[in-house]
Amino acid sequence: MLSQYLYISTAPSLSREEVEKILETSTRNNPAHGITGLLLYNGRNFLQLLEGEENELVGLMMRIGSDKRHTGVSLLSSTQIDARSCPDWAMKRMFIAESVQSRRDTLDDELPQALDPEIRKMIVNFAVLN
Ligand SMILES: Cc1cc2nc3c(=O)[nH]c(=O)nc-3n(C[C@H](O)[C@H](O)[C@H](O)COP(=O)(O)O)c2cc1C
Repeated sequence: MLSQYLYISTAPSLSREEVEKILETSTRNNPAHGITGLLLYNGRNFLQLLEGEENELVGLMMRIGSDKRHTGVSLLSSTQIDARSCPDWAMKRMFIAESVQSRRDTLDDELPQALDPEIRKMIVNFAVLN
């Protein structure tokens, strides 16, 4: 059964290299576990969308939850899904535009069309926070 999780966490001062390392690990590990998703980092907080088989997601969330590079992992949503929203992304880094005005438009273009509208709204709201 396919599920989709959305969570936020706090990591006040990670360097670009540290975030790149997390993405490298994710793109290396996730295909073997059938996990897909996207990751946003705004310099203080992560937001990550994860999708895959429920048992795989539970396993990954345990690892992510005990990862010392961030704290306060907080699940915003967990739902069963019929099909993946991001089937082609082992872990997509979504960049947040510099200009607050253009963030909403840029993300709206880049986020997958198949995303549930409520999930999309949560991701866009996260991205426009300063
Ligand atoms: C915000 C954040 C997101 C992460 N996302 C993933 C992920 O999607 N897949 C993954 O395998 N590890 C992810 N990790 C890393 C895991 O916590 C853990 O370090 C890693 O799975 C260990 O893999 P390794 O044994 O191959 O080094 C993430 C870590 C953080 C801080």
